[in-house]
Amino acid sequence: MTKIDPNTLANIEEVTTEHLHLDLKVDFEKQRLVGSVLLTLKTLAEQVHEVVLDTNHLVINGVYDGENQEKSYEYKLNEEDPKFGRSLTISLPNSLPANQSLKVLVKYETTKECGALQWLQPSQTMGKEHPYLFTQCEAIHARSLVPCQDSPGVKITYSANIDTPAPLRALMSALRVNEEPEVVGDSRIYKFEQKTTMPSYLIALVVGDLEGREIGPRSTVWSEPAMIEKCAWEFVDTEQFIKTGEELLTPYEWGCYDLLVLPGSFPYGGMENPCLTFVTPTLLAGDRSLVDVVAHEIAHSWMGNLVTTKSWENFWLNEGWTMFIERKIIGRMHGEPSRQFSAQMGIKALEADVDFFGHDNSLTCLCPRLHGVDPDDAFSSVPYEKGFNLLYYLEQHLGGPSVFEPYMKAYVQYFAGKALTTSEWKDFLYQYMEKTHGQEKVDLLNQVDWKAWLHTPGMPPVENKYDQTLSHACTQLAKKWDEHRDAPEASPKDIEDFTPDQKVFFLEKVLETEPLPHSTLEAMDKAYSFTQVQNSEIRFRWQMVCLKAEYQPIYPEVVKFLVIQGRMKYTRPLYRALFKCPSGSQLARDTFIKNRDFYHPICGKLIEKDLGLAN
Ligand code: BES
Ligand code: ZN
Repeated sequence: MTKIDPNTLANIEEVTTEHLHLDLKVDFEKQRLVGSVLLTLKTLAEQVHEVVLDTNHLVINGVYDGENQEKSYEYKLNEEDPKFGRSLTISLPNSLPANQSLKVLVKYETTKECGALQWLQPSQTMGKEHPYLFTQCEAIHARSLVPCQDSPGVKITYSANIDTPAPLRALMSALRVNEEPEVVGDSRIYKFEQKTTMPSYLIALVVGDLEGREIGPRSTVWSEPAMIEKCAWEFVDTEQFIKTGEELLTPYEWGCYDLLVLPGSFPYGGMENPCLTFVTPTLLAGDRSLVDVVAHEIAHSWMGNLVTTKSWENFWLNEGWTMFIERKIIGRMHGEPSRQFSAQMGIKALEADVDFFGHDNSLTCLCPRLHGVDPDDAFSSVPYEKGFNLLYYLEQHLGGPSVFEPYMKAYVQYFAGKALTTSEWKDFLYQYMEKTHGQEKVDLLNQVDWKAWLHTPGMPPVENKYDQTLSHACTQLAKKWDEHRDAPEASPKDIEDFTPDQKVFFLEKVLETEPLPHSTLEAMDKAYSFTQVQNSEIRFRWQMVCLKAEYQPIYPEVVKFLVIQGRMKYTRPLYRALFKCPSGSQLARDTFIKNRDFYHPICGKLIEKDLGLAN
């Protein structure tokens, strides 16, 4: 029998978790969390005699009967699997029949090796005065924050008491139970409750010098005090995104939708932690041009958080669907051409990653096999953009938005609170189309080349056609540079009407051509001043264009960018490209080694591999 989730060591077929309660003290001196987790479990199988949990680099201080905490349980921390951690086997005193509730209390603490946590020294924060801690659990790092059944198919509610040194504040991916902390001596206890069931990878915690500003009826943005104004200005569209999501799908379930803007080392653009999306400060462009990441994370409130993939092999159900909804929101708010343009940018990201992994690499299948594979190593644009393209193709093929949008809503209603696989997704699609529209749509579905879409590596089997309204001028300009690569004519006027996105697309097109001569890059920079641009998406592409041509004047700029932010989308390709330049390899390694502590553990580990520094 193949396992439902090859990336967990927990016995999820025999027993499941219903609720998780955390009691943790945050110890900045020793950089560790100390406390306990109380798990409320339910047996699924007959004769369950043990509970196996996932852990990774945790110290276990004891396991007890949750109902009678005097009574300890026998347990064993098993041998470490380098990718999936150490399972914790807890022996139950009596074997239990199916459908029995039980509670298990595990006392534990985290260590320096825990990949979910990044501890920042005061010097690594904006304020320079207080330390900072944040977590990142997706995909399989929750097990290094708390012993649990770390599989996305196990959906739980959770609560927590976090004991935090004054004057710092704690926030979690849950509703705040007390606005003001309970004061006990020197410590402040913040309490949280998440009442909607969700997978373990959405447990999230941040502790730091945090200030909040209301930006909507159900939204507060949080950040270090020094950038709170900037954050509040950048993300004013938040409520409109949520409302548009509600129009497209179902009422927003999670109560509040807050945003947290993290320090520069946050490894992702955004992370959809319920009630509190985490975002990178690289979104603060000062012109609201990068807020589609917020639309994306909001779309996860339905796709991923409410309707969840059962395993990382079906990750596209989270991210492909979320891209699809993100672009629906963008289309509703800014017009269909913006949606079409965003989809074309997606194709560029997909092409880049399919090239990087290799066109016949099985990790470029929409549903890859992940037995023995760390999901972090499999991460790419494929689930996002091949997933999006499948849904976009289906929308066209089945008769357009008037058929597809009601289906989308029905899908969320049907699977809300559940986890599913791709085959369950497909079954529901067939059932819905047959029931609502009859055999005609079933015939259309039967024409879809499912094997190619779901199980074949490389680019999608169908090339969707997108409207060129916004991309045309970019493509033309890139063509002009390519054709006149030896004697370019350029003027700032060429791009004066371009939106930031169009500049990005132009640079993407330039990246596709042969490396430009250095004098041509110099002319481009003179006319367009790309080196000066602070918008992180433009800055990243321009640096990539220069590195592709081994244009050395850009090196100091690349280093500058690499040491103020650690978002993997930028950091990994830039390090790889610098490393690939014969005159840049040493600089790439030196820069990384010198700044190793700045990067988040997840990011550091991957760059180490990219630069051939892993042992
Ligand atoms: N859930 C992801 C981030 C993630 C994926 C973390 C896999 C860990 C493992 C998040 O929603 C996301 O997709 N972020 C993107 C933003 C985007 C596509 C607009 C990012 O970080 O760039
Ligand atoms: Zn996402």
